[in-house]
Amino acid sequence: MTNQKKPWGGRFQEPTDREVEVFTSSIHFDRKLYRHDIEGSIAHARMLAAQKLISRKEEKAIINGLKGIQADLEEERFRFAPDDEDIHMAVEKELIRRIGEAGGKLHTGRSRNDQVSLDMRLYLRDEVDRILGLLNNFKLSLVHLAKTEIRTIMPGYTHLQRAQPVLLSHYLLAYWEMVDRDEARLRDCRKRVNVLPLGAAALAGTNLPIDRQLVAGYLNFPAVSNNSMDTVSDRDFVAEFIFTAAMIMMHLSRFCEDLILWSSGEFAFVEIADAFTTGSSMMPQKKNPDVAELVRGKTGRVYGHLVALLTILKGLPMTYNRDLQEDKEPLFDTTDTVKGCLQTLTAMSRHLKFNRIRMREEAEKGFSTATDIAEFLVMRGVPFRESHGIVGRLVAYGISENKTFSEMTLAEYQRFSPVFDESVFNCLTIENSVNAKSSHGGTAEKMVLKRLADIEGRSDA
Ligand code: ARG
Repeated sequence: MTNQKKPWGGRFQEPTDREVEVFTSSIHFDRKLYRHDIEGSIAHARMLAAQKLISRKEEKAIINGLKGIQADLEEERFRFAPDDEDIHMAVEKELIRRIGEAGGKLHTGRSRNDQVSLDMRLYLRDEVDRILGLLNNFKLSLVHLAKTEIRTIMPGYTHLQRAQPVLLSHYLLAYWEMVDRDEARLRDCRKRVNVLPLGAAALAGTNLPIDRQLVAGYLNFPAVSNNSMDTVSDRDFVAEFIFTAAMIMMHLSRFCEDLILWSSGEFAFVEIADAFTTGSSMMPQKKNPDVAELVRGKTGRVYGHLVALLTILKGLPMTYNRDLQEDKEPLFDTTDTVKGCLQTLTAMSRHLKFNRIRMREEAEKGFSTATDIAEFLVMRGVPFRESHGIVGRLVAYGISENKTFSEMTLAEYQRFSPVFDESVFNCLTIENSVNAKSSHGGTAEKMVLKRLADIEGRSDA
């Protein structure tokens, strides 16, 4: 197309270089925004008519024209031209082709700079709502698993060394807490997405008597942005969203890492259903936890998108700069990745089979009730540092004699401290160990049940 035919072609004498056209075009990825672009344009046209900037007849022609274009886009009948710069230009050009002069009035009091921000906000608001729904489903599946495994005892780890016995339900609800915080963060982020940018125009506002509140009402924005310069250069809401998504991915990745470890022959704590694993092309015996590995791997690309966007933003002079076009692919890939991971992982979680016997066996090992014995002495007046030393020596003795705590006699205990009596044997079972952890937030069954009741009683749970 010669530049004279381009919407902005007036001041140009020479056509755009063909390679530059391809290089600057964003149509192949921002076409994803077409619904939101048209939704925003319809609201803008309604406002223009209400403000008598266009006639009711022109408003009708514009809206019908846009709806026709939308229908064609939905049916994939719409042909994008190679020189369509972006979705905004493609739709506007087609509108003018279809309805003539009235179409040329749509861009009144608006710039692509505020239009693209509007499209991004409308798109992201929808995506945030979808992701909130998926987070909630994942939380529900964790609650379901926690209820099924309410009494299952597993070894709790620090430094990946057996530390203290805990309930598997407590472990599962730990992820619930993480995802609950993610959800809160996302709701908070949504508030900053949910602000109308349209009307900032190119950067300074417009001379024309537009009514931004009216457009905000049409598009369900509770707030209108307050500074036109900030508005066209602001992508904080995108960065904030990608950060929130990166945090979600980090949590999912940690859960997946546990499942990968736990499904190994060495741990054998969990079996992932066949439908969610894959085989090896060479080794016939293998069943690989690829879904979990891919979620873990995809976390990297979302981190990458966050760093990409922050880097795009860091050196921008005020206000809009074309660099901002580079915000889209990171955002689109982030929403797709997070949605895909949440969906697949939620489905996979529903089909996890935990090996209660193996978990229990391992929880018994490694002197895992040592801290219980130390706290037993504390309850009888021994300072904790001293009791820690006593039990440490008891463990060393057990290792050298090849005896577990329950295989030692009271006389043996008393060699290390006269404070020991028969009741020390009560703190040696892993059930008692777990159920003694009844401080707020502890792993005692009654505390986990209490947390479950709180979670299920919560209106937004
Ligand atoms: N495709 C552009 C983007 O995504 C739209 C805004 C272009 N504005 C401009 N003045 N060239 O950011």
